[in-house]
Amino acid sequence: MASQVLVAANRGPLSYALSDDGTLSARRGGGGLVSGLSAALAEQPDALWICAALSEADREAVRRGVAEPGVRMLDIDPTMYDDAYNGIANSVLWFTHHHLYDVPREPVFDAEFHRQWASYVAYNRTFAQALAEEAAQGACVLVQDYHLALVPGQLRELRPDLRIAHFTHTPWASQEFLRMLPDDIRSELMWGMLGADVVGFHTWAWAHTFMGGAHLDDERGIAEPAFPAGTGGERYIRKSPWSPVRHKRTDVAVYPLGVDADELRALAHRPEVDEKLAQLRAEVGDLKTIARVDRTELSKNILRGLLAYRELLTVHPEWRGRVVHLASAYPSRQDLAVYREYTESVRELAAEINAEFGTEDWQPVLVSVQDDFARSLAVYRMTDVALVNPVRDGMNLVAKEIPVVSEAGCVLVLSTGAGAYAELRQDALTVSPYDVTQTAEALHAALSMPVGERAERTKRLAATATALPPAQWFEAQLSDLRT
Ligand code: F6P
Repeated sequence: MASQVLVAANRGPLSYALSDDGTLSARRGGGGLVSGLSAALAEQPDALWICAALSEADREAVRRGVAEPGVRMLDIDPTMYDDAYNGIANSVLWFTHHHLYDVPREPVFDAEFHRQWASYVAYNRTFAQALAEEAAQGACVLVQDYHLALVPGQLRELRPDLRIAHFTHTPWASQEFLRMLPDDIRSELMWGMLGADVVGFHTWAWAHTFMGGAHLDDERGIAEPAFPAGTGGERYIRKSPWSPVRHKRTDVAVYPLGVDADELRALAHRPEVDEKLAQLRAEVGDLKTIARVDRTELSKNILRGLLAYRELLTVHPEWRGRVVHLASAYPSRQDLAVYREYTESVRELAAEINAEFGTEDWQPVLVSVQDDFARSLAVYRMTDVALVNPVRDGMNLVAKEIPVVSEAGCVLVLSTGAGAYAELRQDALTVSPYDVTQTAEALHAALSMPVGERAERTKRLAATATALPPAQWFEAQLSDLRT
């Protein structure tokens, strides 16, 4: 039966594992986008989620026709998938939107890049075709993230009757970074995005950079700024030479994803989390804690976080032996050499700090590389200070989750690069992600903050963090799309 509400995302709500005896078992998929969308879609029972098969086990599940209700996995050729996901989405678009290039050496747009781009176009087209097949007349389609930036334009050509939204979970690149892309590629990217009726971001900072990028291409006939739209954001009109639909209008809007307090608190009080908490308390004793929980992701700025902790121990030696840094940095995107090297650098720097300051009965940094959600929730409950210092980050839900489950209050040290900065800055201690000295001083102020003030700030942070939980976040987009 054709669907009225469809979601397209690279990752699906579940992934499969294949055991030696050939049995397939399904597990919940990972990452912020998946947890937000899964929660939102729990309230949309008839929705269809189209995603890519990410592994051999997922592909096997597709071949065997093992389908979970409400999910369609696309069996994409592994080489094409690798080019699109690792080559373009994670090595070009992710680096562009997060400003991660080491500019004297990168980026290099050569023949290999153009070959990979062709795979990215084809990978997007596979999604567009599947959506076109599955969507009912006039259905709402919500396309997620930079992996699928071309889908709105491609789908518009196939099915002009649909209402199409695109939501970007990352930042959007500044004009300087967007201009690095080859002209034709940048045009194609904007053409794809502006195929949507509504383009959504977590904060106005990213919405504005997107609109700056759209202006960039005015002279190329892609988009022209139209008129402020009252409450619905700002608007662009897609010019006809590029568009299958003449004078198509695209609204740019902001939906800051928040946390579902009840659900998160329930998850944080399961017996397995209580157990992890007891283990952690036994490990840490009555020392104060500074925690971070991230993928080992370049944009998360883990190295400068460790440098700030080292400077704290150097400049404020009174904290030696009285504090522990719990750094959860679990592996991510290990197919890419730059991520493997980064992971190694994190380990090395943590080991250096432990060698420099550690004593027989005190280890200053405890690095955990397990992607263990129960342990992370236990850390959230107990930590005195949370360090969230990305250089650039779409939202950063960790900054929102910690205050919600913190037991005795937790001081949030938050960088200006996090999307969450827009909402949480008043009650956080804010820092520049590049300023290690400022971050070290913020950690000192956080550790020294009186208990009462800490608890008050945490309460206010939790209230802000829960303002737009996933179900409402999704509903708001759906209702804007329908009007
Ligand atoms: O928006 C960024 C994002 O797609 C998140 O939703 C997700 O948590 C993260 O990147 C994970 O990336 P990947 O799917 O490559 O592991």
